[in-house]
This record gives sequence, structure tokens and C-alpha cells, in this order.
Amino acid sequence: MTTEFDLVIRNAHAVTASDEFDCDIAVKGGRIVQLGTGLAKGAREIDAAGRTVTPGGVDAHCHLDQPMPPPTRNADDFNTGTRSAACGGTTTVIPFAAQQKGQSLRAAVEDYRARAAGKAHVDYAFHLIVSDPTPTVLQEELPALIREGFTSFKIYMTYDDMKLDDGQILDVLSVAREHGAMAMLHAENSDCIEWLTKRLEAAGRTAPRFHAHARPMLVEREATHRAIALAELVDVPILIVHVSGREAVEQIRWGRAHGLNIFAETCPQYLFLTAEDLGIDDSYKGAKCVCSPPPRDKANQEVIWDGLNDGLFTVFSSDHAPFKYDAPEGKKPNGEEVGFRHIPNGIPGIETRMALLWSEGVLAGRMTPNKFVELTSTGPAKAYGLHPKKGAIAIGADADLVIWDERNFVLKNEQLHHEVDYTPYEGMRLKAWPGLTLARGEVVWDGQDFHAQPGRGELLVCGLPTLIPKRPVARSS
Ligand code: URP
Ligand code: ZN
Ligand code: ZN
Repeated sequence: MTTEFDLVIRNAHAVTASDEFDCDIAVKGGRIVQLGTGLAKGAREIDAAGRTVTPGGVDAHCHLDQPMPPPTRNADDFNTGTRSAACGGTTTVIPFAAQQKGQSLRAAVEDYRARAAGKAHVDYAFHLIVSDPTPTVLQEELPALIREGFTSFKIYMTYDDMKLDDGQILDVLSVAREHGAMAMLHAENSDCIEWLTKRLEAAGRTAPRFHAHARPMLVEREATHRAIALAELVDVPILIVHVSGREAVEQIRWGRAHGLNIFAETCPQYLFLTAEDLGIDDSYKGAKCVCSPPPRDKANQEVIWDGLNDGLFTVFSSDHAPFKYDAPEGKKPNGEEVGFRHIPNGIPGIETRMALLWSEGVLAGRMTPNKFVELTSTGPAKAYGLHPKKGAIAIGADADLVIWDERNFVLKNEQLHHEVDYTPYEGMRLKAWPGLTLARGEVVWDGQDFHAQPGRGELLVCGLPTLIPKRPVARSS
């Protein structure tokens, strides 16, 4: 008997960023081709009765196999990182092709393309990191790369090997404006951090917990305000990444109240961790939660929840920056317990992002299912030019889907599929986990086992962001 479809998911309770509806979902050639009831038979049938189906997650901020100075190394490459993503319901990842100072941007992209080739299990795109905006980069490489589908780039305001000064930021933002690309800003004031770090070191305060003392909210507030002012000067939308709490949120609200297109991202660590997770004494274990900006406190977690619900945030990403804890290439450089300045910044979270927000947001009654989809999938897809191919349950969209299992369990690192030897969320009680992840119609995770082969994930060509209307093209009369 011939079948019309490759796959039909029956009796789904589908949730999108705007709607909830009960339907069958038919898939052919990796895409959704029909939504309806009583659809014809598929070569494969999956019964989703009683379960919610959402679009697969788009993790628009993660670090996989990013080149960095030895001995430090990301624990996850495109193979293990995208495996972990798929098992956690994420079907698209956007890590960073990072330009080193002195390197051409094109070379950074080619190097990163080679690192990904033949390894990824789910589709991926690249953001660029511009750390050396030479005239060639600004006038030739960046415009050409945008035209080729690398339409977003990150600008650092801190970290010596990455940061740009204000004049350089204006230059890069001008390219974003001219070509309609999305600039992402890591907003922390580098000089303030250095000044505080030296004072803490002079006082012998070098345990992991002092990382948070060296990066108080005001350094994020100042840089966020400056980033907004620079964007206003250039008249370009920007997206502030990994916003940690009230002071940066207030600046973003201020920018929006002044009519500026300021978008924002936050991450699970700002909902579920506090500075106390970096240690209440001088134990080195706190290194596991050293990330920048650092997690704040419970009151700031509430501010982030509010911002997720009231439209301040467009993107909820993991900022998965995977370093093993007990490893010389990880949080203990060369095997040593080092001062906080030298602890690699970042925490793992590519696999836990979706379930944490579904459990603690949707199932705990703090967030609507539509808002969950908007933040974890549709919003990031729109911000980075991947919508409606990604981030949608719609005819023609890629059949990237999650079928949710609701069950109570205690999260343990041994359940996860990354190469990191810990999760910051060890011992958390969760109420749900993806029971099935489909990537372009293929079951890559069935709730128990992972099924994909490295290399099935494809490099995506990104369009321009679709969060705001296109500027009208000037017409000659
Ligand atoms: O601590 C963090 N966030 N590490 C990853 C790099 C970055 O700035 O996003
Ligand atoms: Zn950053
Ligand atoms: Zn990051």
C-alpha cells in the first residue's frame, strides 16, 4: 500500500507562539505538509494522544568547540553538543564563529565550518564574533558574509581578547544597520571589572564566589545603557544577550520607552541560580557556576520572570559554555584551583533549557504555553532570520517538533548527553522532559535513546531578522 506521508503524528495537542489546537501533523520530505484531522496514513505513525506538541527548540546562544587559548577547551563539540541539544528538545543551535584578533573573519568562519562538518545531529547556523573590525572586515568581509547568510554577530564589551571599544562598536553597528543584520551585545564594563578584580586580588579574595563581586549589576547596567546609546546614535536595532537582572532590565525598558528597537535575551541561570551557587565559603566547587554576567539573587530572578512574561525578552537561550569541572582543560586550568580571574567563564545547559522552562514556567503556572514557544523557539527563529522554516508548526515549516512527557523526576547529570561532568541543576525536581524529539521529521530522541547519526544536521543560511518591519526601499520618482 502506498502512503501519502512519511510520518503522521496523530492526536497532537499542538502549541505555537500564538495558538493551541488539536490536530494530526503530516510530514513529508522533512517538512510539515498537512495539519488537520483524519489525515491519510503515513509510512510511520506516532500517537501523541494526551500530549502536548511544540516546535523544536532554537537555542540561539551556545558555544560548541569554540577556539580558545590552551589549556582551556569546550567540553562539547558539534557532535556531543547537538546530541545533548536533541535529547533536550532543541532542534536548531546557533553557536559562534569567533574571529581572533589578527585573523580574517572569513578564516574564522571557514575554520568553524570545518569544525562542524560531518558532526552535527541537528541543524545549525553560526553567529559571528567580531573581535578585530579592520577596514577589510567592515567594508568587505562582514557585508559579504551577511549576504551569504551569516546575518548576526556578537560584540563583546569585556574580555581582553574579544572586546571592542566604543568607536569600534559604532563601526560594527553601522554595518549591521546598512545590511539589516542583528548585532548582539555582551554588555559588561571591562575597566570596572578589571579595577574591582585587582582590588579583590590584592585583598586575597580570589575564591570563585568573588567572581560575582567583580561583576556587580552596575557594570552590566552601565554597559547596557552605553550599548543602547550607541545603537541610538547609529539608529539600529540591537539585542542584549544574557541579561541577568533588574538593573540591565531597567535600561532596556528605558530604551524601549524612548522608541528604540532594543531586544533582549536571558538564560536559565538567571532564573534558577543565584550568586550563592558560586559559593558561600571559599570552596572551589563554586567554579561550576562561574559565568558572566554572574547569577544574582532571588529578587532578580523575579524580575527576569516578569520580563519573560511581559515581552521584554524575545529570546531564552542556554548560553551553553561547556567546561568540565574536574579537568585541566576545564574549570581547573592545568589541574589547579585558580583564582576567579582565571576560571573559564560559562556553564552547561543546552539539554536542560527547554525542560526547565516547561516544568518551572508552564507546568508551575508561571508562563503560558504560547509564551514558552515564543521564547524558546519562534522568537529566536525570527531574531536570526530562520522563521518560518524553524520555530513554527505550520505547513511548509521543517518538522522539528517536541512531544512532551509529563513525569516527576529528579535531574541528575548522569541522565544528560553532554560531555560535561556536572550540571548546575543537579537534584532539581522537574515535572517534564521531551518524550520525543523530531528533527526534520526524523526521531532523534525517543525519551530513552538517542538515534541520530553525526552529519545529519545541516548548516542553515539565515535571512535577515524579522522582528521589526523592513525599512521601505527609497524609490526614485
Ligand atoms: O560566562 C559566559 N557567559 N560564557 C560564555 C561566553 C559569553 O560571554 O557568552
Ligand atoms: Zn557573552
Ligand atoms: Zn555565551
